[in-house]
Amino acid sequence: MEQHQQSTVVITGASSGVGLYAAKALAQRGWHVVMACRDLPKTERAAQSVEMPPNSYTIMHLDLGSLRSVHQFVKDFRATGKPLDALVCNAAIYMPLLKEPLQSVDGYELSVATNHLGHFLLCNLMLEDLKHSASQPRLIILGTVTHNPDELGGKIPPRPDLGNLDGFAAGFKGSNVMIDGKKFEPVKLTKIVKSAMY
Ligand SMILES: NC(=O)c1ccc[n+]([C@@H]2O[C@H](COP(=O)([O-])OP(=O)(O)OC[C@H]3O[C@@H](n4cnc5c(N)ncnc54)[C@H](OP(=O)(O)O)[C@@H]3O)[C@@H](O)[C@H]2O)c1
Repeated sequence: MEQHQQSTVVITGASSGVGLYAAKALAQRGWHVVMACRDLPKTERAAQSVEMPPNSYTIMHLDLGSLRSVHQFVKDFRATGKPLDALVCNAAIYMPLLKEPLQSVDGYELSVATNHLGHFLLCNLMLEDLKHSASQPRLIILGTVTHNPDELGGKIPPRPDLGNLDGFAAGFKGSNVMIDGKKFEPVKLTKIVKSAMY
């Protein structure tokens, strides 16, 4: 008799909001969900709160604000021996009221480190795993209309303008916290980060 291996999806930021309900919906459809999160007890409580069956998910530590943690997550995931059939890059932070930029452990502005750089590394490492999927592999990145200048949300100032990527070109460390190389503006930064992911 033909054996079908259960499909596995990794969802970042599955401890709340869109990620949690995506985890629940995919588990209901027979997927095994790896909930890749930085707060393990919170994630367990969240999974139970939406009544995910205990054997439908695995919670694994991932702090996207740390490049070391991303590498460790990929190692830990591979050690489970599970296939990777879909990767959902959902986690994000949004801190519109910040007066001064925060830094990640690697010295990058925290929201770019978390929302963009951590996911960029994760995708690059896990493309190798997706290639070995026996089904049709998927890589999904959560966007937002506010990053899209063609949508109403993207037309509201500050506009999500990447400029010439001067901040990235300058090494994007220390005082170079904006991808466009301009003055720190947290709302604009979040929009730019989403644009940069596409
Ligand atoms: N909600 C909306 O209306 C909306 C609209 C457009 C787009 N989106 C997009 O949808 C996605 C989810 O939004 P949401 O509203 O569901 O957000 P949310 O409820 O605030 O959830 C964000 C998730 O990201 C996780 N996270 C934050 N920093 C992390 C880190 N360093 N490492 C790992 N995980 C981290 C959070 O974990 P903790 O629990 O540990 O904080 C949480 O699980 C985002 O990409 C957002 O831009 C949302």
